[in-house]
Amino acid sequence: MSIPLQQKALLSQAFGRGWKVGTKPVPRPEANQVLVRIEAAGLNPVDWQMHTSGFDGAGVVVQVGDKVDEVEVGDRVLFESDGSGPHTATFQQYAIAYGDLVAKIPENISFDQAASVPVAYATAGIGLYAPRQYQGGAGLTPPWEADGRGKYAKQPILIMGGSSGMGQAAIQFARLSGFDPIIVTVSPRNNDYVKSLGATHTIDRSEPLSALSATVSSITKEPLKIAFDTLGQSDTQNAAYTALAPGGTLITSASSYIWKSQGKEVVEPYGILHAPSHRAFGVGLLKSVTAWLESGEYKPNRVEYIPGGLAGIPNALDRMRRGQVSASRLIVRPPETV
Ligand SMILES: NC(=O)c1ccc[n+]([C@@H]2O[C@H](COP(=O)([O-])OP(=O)(O)OC[C@H]3O[C@@H](n4cnc5c(N)ncnc54)[C@H](OP(=O)(O)O)[C@@H]3O)[C@@H](O)[C@H]2O)c1
Repeated sequence: MSIPLQQKALLSQAFGRGWKVGTKPVPRPEANQVLVRIEAAGLNPVDWQMHTSGFDGAGVVVQVGDKVDEVEVGDRVLFESDGSGPHTATFQQYAIAYGDLVAKIPENISFDQAASVPVAYATAGIGLYAPRQYQGGAGLTPPWEADGRGKYAKQPILIMGGSSGMGQAAIQFARLSGFDPIIVTVSPRNNDYVKSLGATHTIDRSEPLSALSATVSSITKEPLKIAFDTLGQSDTQNAAYTALAPGGTLITSASSYIWKSQGKEVVEPYGILHAPSHRAFGVGLLKSVTAWLESGEYKPNRVEYIPGGLAGIPNALDRMRRGQVSASRLIVRPPETV
């Protein structure tokens, strides 16, 4: 497979000065790495919040390091950037990934769909299942372990932001874990969609959050032991924390603004599979995704294709910043960059 020396990439300017399409060398993989020709890249809120260069990627392996035996040249893979620098970013045409932290894409899933998976899947999976001593895990038994599937039957879970990328992932993990009811806050236009993923009850996100605990109590009499705030906003965090039963655990996607009390826990997942604190867990988490995507047990995020290749990203990120994206991961195709 011929590999060019140079590629198009979206280059980050100084903070606050946006991004610009430019040219840079194609990196070469080290022994435990692969080079991926990126066919689709997904946009995440962190890209505009932290001015980063892309975390979600899907493409074709074009070169493998000597010590990689998990994948070979020609495999279709999805992967999450480790955030370590320009070589692993996904807003470019070729990126470095790690042999043990890529997952093969089954035939029934397009590159666009695959690029919507990694960050949401990783962060929701780490939040729910990573051991508590690691960054941000609630320590539940994962559904890919023998005794994990359906283990939490008849136990309620509350998910704030069911239609967010992470929310879509959290609902599906909750379904695989057996939680019931799966209660989510969401805009009513997305009720049917989140129910198709496994939500059993929806609460209109515009209802006052002061009423959340009472609404949850009207749905279930079981103590609420797990709540997942995928939004990471102070009001959603606090409402979910209040709705928890004593001894419950809140998983929240951003730093907690909560003054902890009543013996309730708060965990904050760090959604990078490569993080040294939970890399081994990350490898295990990623192992199941190919089979689940193939069987339909786990569905990719809904996606919206953005034309223009890498040049389409800045405006698309601005749409996200303005809250104009609902229940979808925006996707660009780097090969379309002119
Ligand atoms: N800790 C980590 O490592 C990590 C990793 C990834 C992401 N994050 C953070 O997690 C957050 C979510 O990321 P994401 O990619 O999942 O977001 P996203 O998909 O971009 O979120 C958009 C969705 O949020 C929903 N939403 C917004 N405000 C809401 C509210 N008050 N109540 C209910 N739903 C609301 C909207 O729902 P409707 O259209 O239905 O109204 C929309 O569908 C971001 O802040 C991101 O930076 C953290």
